[in-house]
Amino acid sequence: MKAILLAGGKGSRLRPLTVHTPKPIVPIFDRPFLHYQLDLLKQVPEIDEVILSLNYQPRRIEEVFGDGGDSGLAIRYVVEPAPLGTGGAIRFASESLRDSVVVFNGDVLTQIDLGAVIALHRERKAKATIVLTPVDNPSAYGLVETDARGNVTRFLEKPNADEITCDTINAGIYILEPETFDRIPKDTPWSIERSFFPSLIERKDTFVAYVYRGYWIDIGTPEKYIQVHRDIMDAKYVGHRSMPFATHPGAAWVSPDARVEPGAIIEGPCFIDEGAVVKTGAHIGPYSVVGRQCYVEEHAVLDNAIVWANSRISQEAVVRRSILGRHCHIGRHALVEDGVVLGDKSVVTDYSRL
Ligand code: GDD
Ligand code: MG
Repeated sequence: MKAILLAGGKGSRLRPLTVHTPKPIVPIFDRPFLHYQLDLLKQVPEIDEVILSLNYQPRRIEEVFGDGGDSGLAIRYVVEPAPLGTGGAIRFASESLRDSVVVFNGDVLTQIDLGAVIALHRERKAKATIVLTPVDNPSAYGLVETDARGNVTRFLEKPNADEITCDTINAGIYILEPETFDRIPKDTPWSIERSFFPSLIERKDTFVAYVYRGYWIDIGTPEKYIQVHRDIMDAKYVGHRSMPFATHPGAAWVSPDARVEPGAIIEGPCFIDEGAVVKTGAHIGPYSVVGRQCYVEEHAVLDNAIVWANSRISQEAVVRRSILGRHCHIGRHALVEDGVVLGDKSVVTDYSRL
């Protein structure tokens, strides 16, 4: 069985972080995001190949995963000549496929039992099976209505407030039958959400919902990107690779290769990656992530801050509830707080306030 990961979007809501790092490989702690999805796919022995459907900065992604050797899954790359949207990308990536295929949005993190979804798809002899999950506000997602037997009766992408009739949304995980793909036009931008799914309902194809109530998040905005780190530190999401937080929620995790000087204050939960230096009097507060080779100088404060590799936080600077890209330089006594997102190589001069 093959799995297609839709990983070609521009990640515009995560800009400027995604200017040099496409969304599928933004780091979650010390690992590119797609590794977490591959971990999940590996749990299904039937899946023998993952097709990464790419468009934006495909080389950067290929460099990270190669042929999949390290991950234990065969990986193939399909790069669209121009963005084809979610539907066009699936058609383009599935040219030679005949059997049921698993499709995943490349930006969702979940602990779903995929085997159970595949089993339901087979049992119901469905043309398509979609995973739904409840959220507080469906407006940023695809709203999906179902009937008492678990069939999808309506799909409405990005509903207006007055169109919200239920709390179940498209979790971005499908089992599809390639025989239905002939209704997706070739080489044309096409949305699986706005065109393909509504067409299944119109034609009365067997279109089945699997409702999942466990951990699920779309990491595609700065708020959610910070949230996913919090959730892992709180052990709300427990991955297949042993993160220290799974067994020690609230832990202050410091790489054995990091250097924390005496007199630095480290408050868990937090994560300090290899090669990082935290100087005397610096304060790493809860829910902070200090990337590889970062340098946190004397009396600097990080609190709910995510700092990518190779950045420097100078003396007495404060970074709160914000995200810094790679190679950033925060000057002495600078204050960066409340939702600031800085791209790679940003420089904040001494005493600046953002
Ligand atoms: N190859 C390729 N080509 N991939 C694409 C393209 C494209 O043209 N456009 C988007 N993608 C990929 C993105 O990289 C992402 O992994 C996935 O398709 C979904 O795109 P998003 O841009 O993240 O969509 P969204 O989050 O607004 O909405 C989608 O996901 C929600 C769940 O997180 C929809 O599927 C909603 O219905 C759903 O609820
Ligand atoms: Mg998304």
